[in-house]
Amino acid sequence: MNSEYILYILYLIASVLFVIGLKMLSHPDTARSGNLWAALGMFLAIVGTIVLHHHTELTVTKVGLIIGGITLGTIVGWVAAKKVKMTAMPEMVSMFNGMGGLCAAVISLTEFPHHIGNTASLSTVMAGLIIGSTSFAGSMIAFAKLNGTMKKSIRLPKYNILNNGWFLLTAAVAVYIVAAGIDNPAIVYLVFAMALTYGILFVIPIGGADMPVVISLLNSFTGVAAAMGGFLYNNQVMLTGGILVGSAGTLLTLVMCKAMNRPLSNVIFGAFGEGAAGDSAGKSAKGTVKDISVSDAAVLMNYSKKVIIVPGYGLAVAQAQHVIHELETTLEDHGVEVKYAIHPVAGRMPGHMNVLLAESNVDYNKLAEMEEVNPEFPNTDVVLVVGANDVVNPAARNDASSPIYGMPILDVDNAHHIIINKRSMNAGYAGIDNELFYNPKTSMLFGDAKDVLTKLVGELKAM
Ligand code: TAP
Repeated sequence: MNSEYILYILYLIASVLFVIGLKMLSHPDTARSGNLWAALGMFLAIVGTIVLHHHTELTVTKVGLIIGGITLGTIVGWVAAKKVKMTAMPEMVSMFNGMGGLCAAVISLTEFPHHIGNTASLSTVMAGLIIGSTSFAGSMIAFAKLNGTMKKSIRLPKYNILNNGWFLLTAAVAVYIVAAGIDNPAIVYLVFAMALTYGILFVIPIGGADMPVVISLLNSFTGVAAAMGGFLYNNQVMLTGGILVGSAGTLLTLVMCKAMNRPLSNVIFGAFGEGAAGDSAGKSAKGTVKDISVSDAAVLMNYSKKVIIVPGYGLAVAQAQHVIHELETTLEDHGVEVKYAIHPVAGRMPGHMNVLLAESNVDYNKLAEMEEVNPEFPNTDVVLVVGANDVVNPAARNDASSPIYGMPILDVDNAHHIIINKRSMNAGYAGIDNELFYNPKTSMLFGDAKDVLTKLVGELKAM
């Protein structure tokens, strides 16, 4: 059989593996193997292209460069993914996504001179360049925001008008270059620079708390930019891969916005979530805060019929996922019914709590989604909130001036007793006070989650 046909079949298999892999990623039990299936698809596509594609100008130097690039990328990717802490995962995703965008932009930069005069393919080159560069520059800013290098959002005067105007100007320059058939290859760098600037302008005004949404959006941009490459090279697997990334990224962006009850336009054009504690937005909560000792908390939980655990970002920071599982099994040994209430945006990335708890083998059936668990709080004896803050903040329901107003929350204040574990009275990611801490039913169990939960398990085991 002709090698090109074998390659098409390999591309088809690879595309099917991408789809199966993506589908499997949607459930914690199958996510790990889904990732491997998709990676196998990518492996087949890459090796197939190198070995079977009919290359006209493939020299030893070029093969060396390809293999060198793949080896370097594999080592950097492998080491980064092995070393990354769970809490730094969004940063890593942002960096990897940015690299994808840069690849798409570089393809356009190198292909531009070969397509001068061909309006259709040059339009594809320009679209890939603008989208890929925007995704790259935007992802780098998101990376800097997430790792704390860039602490404050920068809002230039009339930034929404400025940004949109700049984007339109960039697109207009690209259209002009294509339509006028400008044959100076250097001109493409003007569009590259303008698109990079747009990527920066696009992300700098957006607050830190919204970075996961922005990364997901930029991720979909990278997918579309890669799909442009697929069009350009008439390469089916690049096209399918790009479209899948583009659509999955868009869906995830919309799902996150829905979970925060905010339209995407509000994330992009609104000014939310500086990530700085003590933000002036919203009313400040006041009242008396009641402490509880570890032993009193243990007694309260031990004599409960039903305990619901609400994990949040602090659980990930403390790496307390194993000890929380031990707490759950210890309580169950004492005849207490235990489950976890999972808020869709708890933590710092989609599915953060699910991934964290799956790591310590918590039974997936014990995780209850927000809509399902909210009606259960009124007949719950104790809610134990561990390192969560914004996702249980009643201001989302009753303070119209709060930046999180309208976000659906876990209604833990309906339970009989609320125990909140965190280290201090500091705010969560949205930077706002939480009146739940002052609720007469609430007791604060201060300390690092891992330390406190370990002591709690010790007390319970001694009972
Ligand atoms: P947060 O509101 O960020 O609160 C986390 C709390 O954990 C903090 O108040 C902190 O208080 C505590 N903490 C930190 N380290 C701790 C430790 N070692 N031990 C015990 N407690 C610790 O978290 P959340 O409730 O999970 O809400 C997530 C936030 O991120 C929301 O605002 C959400 O909108 C935003 N966000 C999430 C996503 C996704 S996809 N997950 C996407 C966009 C935005 P102390 O400093 O006092 O300990």
